[in-house]
Amino acid sequence: MNRIFSGVQPTGNLHLGNYLGAIRNWVRLQGDFECIFCVVDLHAITQWQEPAALRHSTREVAAAMIAAGVDPRENIIFHQSANPSHAELAWVLNCVARMGWLNRMTQFKEKAGKNRENASVGLFAYPNLMAADILAYKATHVPVGEDQKQHLELTRDVAAKFNNDFGVDLFPLTEPLILGTATRVMSLRDGTKKMSKSDPSEYSRIAMADGPDEIAKKIRKAKTDPEPLPETAGGLEGRPEAANLLGIHAALADSDLESVIAEHGGRPFSDFKRDLSDLAVATLGPIGDEMRRLMADPAHIDAILRDGAERARAITRPILEEVYDTIGFLRP
Ligand code: TYM
Repeated sequence: MNRIFSGVQPTGNLHLGNYLGAIRNWVRLQGDFECIFCVVDLHAITQWQEPAALRHSTREVAAAMIAAGVDPRENIIFHQSANPSHAELAWVLNCVARMGWLNRMTQFKEKAGKNRENASVGLFAYPNLMAADILAYKATHVPVGEDQKQHLELTRDVAAKFNNDFGVDLFPLTEPLILGTATRVMSLRDGTKKMSKSDPSEYSRIAMADGPDEIAKKIRKAKTDPEPLPETAGGLEGRPEAANLLGIHAALADSDLESVIAEHGGRPFSDFKRDLSDLAVATLGPIGDEMRRLMADPAHIDAILRDGAERARAITRPILEEVYDTIGFLRP
């Protein structure tokens, strides 16, 4: 059976982009793949996290996965720091990947901003840890949103260089699964910017844990332009906010952009926003309720994470041994 690995950072503010671009697809892929879903706390600390907030977010991401429908018995849900294989393999891959490859990573450039000298070494090496996450399980497929594509290309490059350097066929060349119509959900305040956990404005994103009133308010306040909705897809040219809201509608309704335009084209934004808001509340409302129910019992979430970590370690231990033998490390 093919094996899936994917992850979410516990950096707070899980949002509609994380849901539509990643977590909802995971729910749909379980059963057809052996699935391992990880709360990547080692990745989170590449930028400063308050310890108490990190603990809360780690549980909240696990709760979101379960509330959205990932079954933690059939699949593995765990947090990255609970399986040391990730950090161990990341070190090996730090010695395989080239500085030049990492220098080309656009996410590092965006996150480090102008002050690159002051970014953590971990933020620079972040993609190697991500490659280690995937390769420690010899995962064949990785379902993610569009923004992770470059990191997955690097994962393939690192795997190929390792195999080639040592003359082995140890790591698979992982396939990205960028699925659905909402692979890149944009900010509600600026249709040219990605919806993101780190945007300072709460109004830029719908959080997975938002209640009906918050969802409705954020959609009502979402930036638009003065024209009514276009009647053809061509009419979305130069109208990023309209394209984003229609795209979100299509994804939530499990439909496509053409059908949503056929139904809503020509209407004023105010009407359309009411429909969109009802749809978002109907989809996210029950997930938010279930997240809150799960978060009321942190010991239960911790038990799920512990069980997942044990099963994760059982998969990666022999793979790490194979890697160490290949490199020429003596057995301890
Ligand atoms: P993260 O935590 O930023 O996002 C988690 C998932 O959500 C997707 N996503 C989006 N999809 C559509 N529109 C958006 N606006 C949007 N924002 C986020 C992301 O593509 C991702 O699938 N580096 C990863 C975490 C990671 C990982 C891995 C993923 C660590 N190791 C191994 C896959 C495999 C990240 O920062 O995701």
